[in-house]
Amino acid sequence: MIEVKTIREEAMKLTEQLVAWRRDFHRHPELGFSEFRTGRIVAETLEALGYQVQRNVGRTGVVGLLQGAKPSPVVMLRFDMDALPIQEENEVEYASQNAGVMHACGHDGHTAIGLGVATLLARHRDELAGQVKLVFQPNEEGTNDSNGAPAMIADGALKSPRPDVLFGLHVWNSLDLGKAIVHPGAMMAAADIFRIRVVGRGGHGAIPQQTVDPVLVASHIVVALQSIVSRNVPPMQPAVLTVGSIQAGTAFNVIPPTAEMVGTVRTFDNDVQNLVENRLRRISGQIAAAFGAEAEVTYQRVTPLLVNAPVPTTFMQQIAGQVLGTANVVAGEPSMGGEDVAYFLQEVPGCFFFLGSRNVSKGKVYSHHHPLFDIDEDALPLGVAILTAASLRYGHET
Ligand code: NI
Repeated sequence: MIEVKTIREEAMKLTEQLVAWRRDFHRHPELGFSEFRTGRIVAETLEALGYQVQRNVGRTGVVGLLQGAKPSPVVMLRFDMDALPIQEENEVEYASQNAGVMHACGHDGHTAIGLGVATLLARHRDELAGQVKLVFQPNEEGTNDSNGAPAMIADGALKSPRPDVLFGLHVWNSLDLGKAIVHPGAMMAAADIFRIRVVGRGGHGAIPQQTVDPVLVASHIVVALQSIVSRNVPPMQPAVLTVGSIQAGTAFNVIPPTAEMVGTVRTFDNDVQNLVENRLRRISGQIAAAFGAEAEVTYQRVTPLLVNAPVPTTFMQQIAGQVLGTANVVAGEPSMGGEDVAYFLQEVPGCFFFLGSRNVSKGKVYSHHHPLFDIDEDALPLGVAILTAASLRYGHET
């Protein structure tokens, strides 16, 4: 069986190609469900490598299947391809050529890593225990309505063949190059969006007695919502409730008819999630009623809790340890961020991990979704080595 050391060396030799792919995707970023160019390059590259390719899975997603000697196990690897509606501020030769759109989360790197893994797996096809399914997913960010992962599942991405295990990664600018966070159990939060529209009665700013002021009602609701985490959620359970936007009114002397708030809830437990939603609905409705207004609440569960399964996580800790050195692989802390790979992990046991891409000496220090975000590209071959090794050794070692 092929040594992890050998796989690492082969991945390192791919660096130039990986950087070329990543920079090409970076120059030509595409928003969720519009990854037409990216998806075409992925599909054509996979076909040239001998993969069985399905296009337009979940609108712009691509699935590539590589068959080994036996039908099982089926290892699924997931890579996201979409960019964000951000104007890039990096002055680099590979900066975005698409105004207002930027790969500011590193998904360009994920797509490049996916093609690198595809290259090495095709070369070592004889050593596969079963089959490998490469899933290139659109719209992880949920920029255009619903997310890409559920769209791909609805389109059969997890069927024929059904994966036995899933591995995936995110380059991570909170972590130095050469390190990885492989966290067992619940790792990233369930992410929900709420909208509260307060309907009052508008009028003259100097004649408040003839109005029901939705700005005042919304203010009371914002304050009271902060009692949910502090007074209702058990103190040992993590939860966040953020009102990210309040919109109301147009002039200093007008009381507007409505006020609208939008925010997010993050939780790590289904009971807590239900509790927060119920309290949010009740507080909004009853505070509005107390002032003679109405609150229309919509509450949408966007991304489920991301949970890593025990066996694949232990396996990934070992593989990542062999590529990066055991001391460089840590369990880390769970994140209140959300990731829609959680939809796949509800169906297929697996492990999603963070790969360090920060490098202070190279100035690659900006956080994800920042207009100056950039990664240390030396993370790319490391990601390729880890996922290739995991694919080639899974089924031999488990
Ligand atoms: Ni991301």
